[in-house]
Amino acid sequence: MTVLQFAVMISINPTNVYPFLSGLLIEQQTTRVDAAHKVLTSGTGPGNDFIGWLNPADVAPESLINEIISTAENLHTLADKMVVVGIGGSYLGTRAVVDALSTNPKSITYAGQNVSAAYHANLLGELDNQDYVVNVVSKSGTTTEPAVAFRVILNHLNAKYPTGVSERVVATTDKNKGALRQLATQNGYKTFPIEDAIGGRYSVLSPVGLLPIAFAGVDIQALVRGASDMYSLCAEGDIASNPVLWYVATRNLLMQKGINIEVLASFEPRLHYLQEWWKQLFGESEGKNGIGLFPASVEYTTDLHSMGQYMQDGRRIVMETFLRIESGEPTVLVPDGNPIDELAYLVGRGLTEVNEAAWKATSTAHANGGVPNLTLNIPALDAYHLGGLIYFFERACGISGYLMGVNPFDQPGVEDYKRGMFSLLGKPGASQSDNNRPESTHIQFG
Ligand code: PA5
Repeated sequence: MTVLQFAVMISINPTNVYPFLSGLLIEQQTTRVDAAHKVLTSGTGPGNDFIGWLNPADVAPESLINEIISTAENLHTLADKMVVVGIGGSYLGTRAVVDALSTNPKSITYAGQNVSAAYHANLLGELDNQDYVVNVVSKSGTTTEPAVAFRVILNHLNAKYPTGVSERVVATTDKNKGALRQLATQNGYKTFPIEDAIGGRYSVLSPVGLLPIAFAGVDIQALVRGASDMYSLCAEGDIASNPVLWYVATRNLLMQKGINIEVLASFEPRLHYLQEWWKQLFGESEGKNGIGLFPASVEYTTDLHSMGQYMQDGRRIVMETFLRIESGEPTVLVPDGNPIDELAYLVGRGLTEVNEAAWKATSTAHANGGVPNLTLNIPALDAYHLGGLIYFFERACGISGYLMGVNPFDQPGVEDYKRGMFSLLGKPGASQSDNNRPESTHIQFG
């Protein structure tokens, strides 16, 4: 199998793309892709006031990392559990890294990523019985879901701890403005700033993600170092030498050939929330003006027994990007046992070998079934390589948005439902005309 090796951080397996696009055709995109790359790096495109994430070392210099680590240590003197209150870009990146890397992912629990009464009632029940601290994260400081959840959690904190509540709360928010900034000042919470030039879905490697990730015991220095090394690897070069440009060119060409959906597939459940984070990153960045690849995800081998049929045989509008971990997984061997299950051929072999065979077989079968696919290989699932992968996708997304002709840093469509919801809930100042459809009808069965 051909492998495009880009330094030691990442390699791409393109074999199952070539039946659909030739390597030559991909390389012929050089001028277009270089131009989009330049728009991003020179800050000349729409949304250019939101490219503060471009150099990870600027976002998280050593002094900030040290302050975050010592804050996490101080919080641990109060509790081993942190509630992270946030949604979208103020939530998914944290969860992606914590679930992938923390040896104790349950040290973090989440609130405000939905407004389910049952979810929050259950959470409060759990918090009754344990000490906890809170990191409330909202750049705007006014997003409804986390604002509501923070009220609920603060109420619980005040009832649980007669004194010292303010020491238990850290607010990560805008430097100067917003309701959360005001609340933090009023109540004396420790704060971390979110820079104006960093939007939510590009913020995981800023204090937004780094504080809770550090609290969960993940090495944030290695995470940022991985991102910085990927930044160096992807800053220069053309499609042949820069993995980000190769990925951007390939998925864009496939879109032009009628592909509507990119499915990010992994064989590792620890990557579930990385896939969720990726969906937000690409969905909010590209999905506008009636274009963009719809980002979806599957978790194999589980989903081979649900979505596998569609992937193999359904409408041919799908491309697939596999995430593959090359090494470092624990050893679990198939033991000897009763021959009735006909597994004698696997005795003494590892689950990793079985999973690897599943990846090889699936990627080949899907290509044969008409699904162009590529594999992104990372040497190991650790903080360094995950930091690199996160940065790889962020940079790819910025370039890809410009290549498609959209602003990859805004999300105007997200406002539409909010207007209707505020109107329904009677928010002062919300226009009633924003909810001017007739009362929805229900078809009642039975
Ligand atoms: O990517 C984005 O900008 C959004 O997903 C935001 O992160 C999300 O809406 C939460 O916003 P805020 O941090 O202002 O509460």
